[in-house]
Amino acid sequence: MGRRVVRSVDAPGIDTLLASKEMVIVCGSGGTGKTTVAASLGVLAATQLGARVLVLTVDPARRLASALGMNAFGNSEVQIAPEVLRLASPPVRGVTQGELWVAMLDTKAGWDELIRRHAPDAVLRDKVLANPLYQNITGRFVHSHDYIAMEQLHELHASGRYDLVVIDTPPSRHALDLLDAPGRMREFFGSRLLRWLTVPYRSRLFALASKPFYQVADRVLGSRFLQDIAEFFILFQSMESGFVARAAEVERLLVDPRTSFVVVTTLEAAPAHEARFLADELRKRKMHLGAIIMNRTLPTSIRQPGAAKAARSLMAAADDPDVVAAIAASLAATTSADPSDISRVLAEVGERFHDIVVVASREAERRAELVALDALAVDVPSLGRDVSDLHGLVELGGYLQQG
Ligand SMILES: Nc1ncnc2c1ncn2[C@@H]1O[C@H](COP(=O)(O)OP(=O)(O)OP(=O)(O)O)[C@@H](O)[C@H]1O
Ligand SMILES: [Mg+2]
Repeated sequence: MGRRVVRSVDAPGIDTLLASKEMVIVCGSGGTGKTTVAASLGVLAATQLGARVLVLTVDPARRLASALGMNAFGNSEVQIAPEVLRLASPPVRGVTQGELWVAMLDTKAGWDELIRRHAPDAVLRDKVLANPLYQNITGRFVHSHDYIAMEQLHELHASGRYDLVVIDTPPSRHALDLLDAPGRMREFFGSRLLRWLTVPYRSRLFALASKPFYQVADRVLGSRFLQDIAEFFILFQSMESGFVARAAEVERLLVDPRTSFVVVTTLEAAPAHEARFLADELRKRKMHLGAIIMNRTLPTSIRQPGAAKAARSLMAAADDPDVVAAIAASLAATTSADPSDISRVLAEVGERFHDIVVVASREAERRAELVALDALAVDVPSLGRDVSDLHGLVELGGYLQQG
């Protein structure tokens, strides 16, 4: 499906990225603002570029989820009412408002979908889905979440229903988990391990059935336990080729020229370090790094030399009885502040501000390192409140667009 209207843009920025890509994967360290930025990019693409966009989110904060109309669980797609969207962000001249759809990543539903697709017949399919170990085991696959997220991205993109699919990613323990997930799944499904697990089980099960051991296991574990395990792996093996082919497709999606990664970070040491690492890895793997979003940054005004000087003056003034007396005298008309209180407050305000200046200068260093990565780097200040409604997302989108 072609993008309906694309606003002309002078310099490449977020708009250009959203207009030129069909899949945007928002990743980064835990708690940096991935879910918020993903939703905000979706709002931006729908309202400013006229795109039909789907945001696939992971575990959004409850208030944001309900603001987006996602009260029900499951990965069904919900459209934000066009008039609600229009009110939150009036249309740009010359652009027909697009559509904003949201869905929540549901790992279990994602696995069920895979099984339905790859099961050779309905009987096998129902057997796997009904197997009591199925859910338990698939949930335990390392990076099951990451894989299903990519898998869903593939599915939604291939459906052709959207101009753009923005995908939020689960908090990973390590940045590479996400990038490696499809490859690991492919390796597992195509490996000898799966065969090794199934064949002996099959024969072992029949051989054991008549043995006293089996009868004991039967009494201790319940008669279906061993059978369930064996059945699970045997059934899974029957889907091997489908799974391998699919995981390889999902893997290719990550290097597809229509896919771009947006790395979200704060300017704290650990997430910023992770963001640089992730950016390097993306490059090494020939994956497209679309933008680095430096989120929740301090306003640049704090770093003005005058502000830091004022903070030092306040701290010095706190120790100067003449200044304190002069302030007390000037306040006397409105309040009877005790000079010792005035001194304390001056010292406290000065010190706090000074601390913030120190944080801001560290942020500036990390910012410089991220900017040096030669990707689109975007500053988004802290809004001073949680971003839990469409207005907050639109406000954030404004900063994303400014670059
Ligand atoms: N620029 C901002 N200003 C103020 N609050 C923000 C900003 N960006 C994000 N937040 C808030 O920070 C919190 C964490 O954001 P979010 O849930 O998007 O992070 P996340 O990276 O998705 O976390 P997780 O890794 O746990 O999924 C939320 O409460 C959100 O409203
Ligand atoms: Mg999140």
